[in-house]
Amino acid sequence: QYHLYTTSFTRFIAAVMVSCESDLFRSRLSQNLWEEGGGCEPARRHAQLFRNFLQHSLGIAEVDRIDYAPFTRLFVRDYLDQSQRLETMAAAAFLAVGTEGIVPRVYEIMQAGLRRAGLPDSELEFFALHIACDDDHAVTLEQLMASYADRPGWFEACAGGITRALDLRTEFFDHLFDALQTARLAPMLQRMQDRVSLARNADDAALCHRPGGTTIAMYENTVEKLNIQFTVERLPVAAEVLDPRMVRIPPGKYNEKHKHAHETLIHILEGSGQVLIDDRVFPVRGGDTVLVPRWAMHQTQNLGPTEMRFLAVTDFNLSQRAYLGDATDYRMHSDVDGRQRRPAGHG
Ligand SMILES: [Fe+2]
Ligand SMILES: [Fe+2]
Repeated sequence: QYHLYTTSFTRFIAAVMVSCESDLFRSRLSQNLWEEGGGCEPARRHAQLFRNFLQHSLGIAEVDRIDYAPFTRLFVRDYLDQSQRLETMAAAAFLAVGTEGIVPRVYEIMQAGLRRAGLPDSELEFFALHIACDDDHAVTLEQLMASYADRPGWFEACAGGITRALDLRTEFFDHLFDALQTARLAPMLQRMQDRVSLARNADDAALCHRPGGTTIAMYENTVEKLNIQFTVERLPVAAEVLDPRMVRIPPGKYNEKHKHAHETLIHILEGSGQVLIDDRVFPVRGGDTVLVPRWAMHQTQNLGPTEMRFLAVTDFNLSQRAYLGDATDYRMHSDVDGRQRRPAGHG
């Protein structure tokens, strides 16, 4: 979606050039355009660098066939409209402070995210380049904006232009966020609408788990000084939303104090102790059921003389799709690999 914006960017600068009466500023804007165009190497124009990134790093083979969302087309259309229609001082503010001025910061965030997704710096040239060079581009546009400072209504016109640019981009990113969340949930929502039994292709073991049945080791941790020791195993049932886990805590030990996007129903099978939820304490024993709401800080403490065992039924398979963020960033202890695919989220 962002490609439509990057490939249109030189049109915005060109629009301001057309309305700019000063030949000095037009020549300086043409320098911006020259750099955007890759200078003497058109193959290195910024739109092409972004296209290379899409092809080589994100595996989008046919960039020309990207299906742009209506909100993306509207965003770029509005951006061009504003660049063309605003009076020059407001258009300069629109592109200077409202656009180029925030690019380094915005691209730093994108760069950090792409690095975390595992992309090497060698593939992030487009972002590194703009973090470095768009400050200069912003200065030219800022000086153009400032050259009108003695005109009546200058401040209001510029403030309006800046606000318009920031609002347009905020709307675009909000739409992108919604679209991403919807796309991740869409297959599950479709299966609900399909009204076809998902038990059809499931093994017996994926529908019925018994004591001693196969489980998947998921997570364990021991931190002596915090009295933490526990193990989490996943029950391999064929659930779309629910992700049930068996948690074991030795006598006198605790699991981690932690919180997460998923909600959890804790059903105590054996043992006794207490469950802490935010600032509340619930004494528990075999047969008790406790709900841990999303993002509530919680911890289970085994205060009895025997092992504590409980079933923690989470909605992790839903929340890991619906929550757009690092599902492991709630971890309290640095001895755990924060990048592992399946986070703790035990009880
Ligand atoms: Fe650029
Ligand atoms: Fe938990």
